[in-house]
Amino acid sequence: MIIVETIVDVRVACDDVRARGGTVGFVPTMGYFHEGHRSLMRAARAAHDAVVVSLFVNPAQFGPTEDLDAYPRDLDTDTAVAIAEGVDVLFMPQVPEMYPEGARTTVHVAELTERLCGASRPGHFDGVTTVVAKLFSIVGPCTAYFGRKDAQQLAVVRRMTADLDLPVAVVGCPLIRDPDGVAMSSRNSYLSSDDRRRASVLIRALRAAADAVISGERGAQAVRELLTGVLATEPAVRVDYAEIVDAARLQPVERIEPDTLIALAAYVGNARLIDNITISFDGDRVQVDAGLHTAGK
Ligand code: PAJ
Repeated sequence: MIIVETIVDVRVACDDVRARGGTVGFVPTMGYFHEGHRSLMRAARAAHDAVVVSLFVNPAQFGPTEDLDAYPRDLDTDTAVAIAEGVDVLFMPQVPEMYPEGARTTVHVAELTERLCGASRPGHFDGVTTVVAKLFSIVGPCTAYFGRKDAQQLAVVRRMTADLDLPVAVVGCPLIRDPDGVAMSSRNSYLSSDDRRRASVLIRALRAAADAVISGERGAQAVRELLTGVLATEPAVRVDYAEIVDAARLQPVERIEPDTLIALAAYVGNARLIDNITISFDGDRVQVDAGLHTAGK
């Protein structure tokens, strides 16, 4: 694996792969790798001649009062993980490499970014789409891998890629959970052991909602009440949103239809956590995509 810090070095490495007829798979990250990141690296590894991973804690997607400085970092462990997953190029730029003096261009996806996380994190998705568009342009991958953990991010990146005709296939990969059901996140490192126990209320609420749909409930309002009822059993967990929307457009639905996203965000201790499940139908049979559990250590 080579570690590169400059845009020109990434381009040279990727041009070389393409010149030999190879394909490049790409995984953008902010580091502090866990099984969620590793699953994306494996998906890319299985399908491409070369795998590029970017590790950049992108200041543009953090609000002024958010956790940019506290965001967990461990470059040595991350490097070892990337090597173990067979990554070819680890791109770790410094901030001025990505945002030099004088940069004035941002990428904004309308509507999809206004709701859910966009409502409580103004500007966040502009930071995400700007950096992802830049990274796509730098790496030139044929395929890029994103986790369904960040369902809104995935929908926004898909919209941007289609709207700008970027020649990149965007693949959404399963949400990976710890054995206690908590969605893996670099931000879980902020949780005390009490908070960690409290955090499992998110998946319990989502499961209760899914069970109601499996039992035949189709009214979004009834499912939402169930969701918020379970969340209320942990008073120390402050709900930011609990919403039932269509998975592609992220608009609220009245009835549970195929491809309905049940998404929530909540503050647990110092962390703002997000989680979701997707409901689809196989004929009349309800299919719940709640992600995958790791076996644990
Ligand atoms: P980061 O939070 O590091 O996540 C990198 C990728 O890993 C994203 O596609 C995210 O959805 C995926 N991921 C995180 N936790 C996951 C889990 N539990 N299961 C499956 N996939 C998971 O998302 C970002 O970084 C940034 O916004 C980025 C896209 C890199 C732009 O800066």
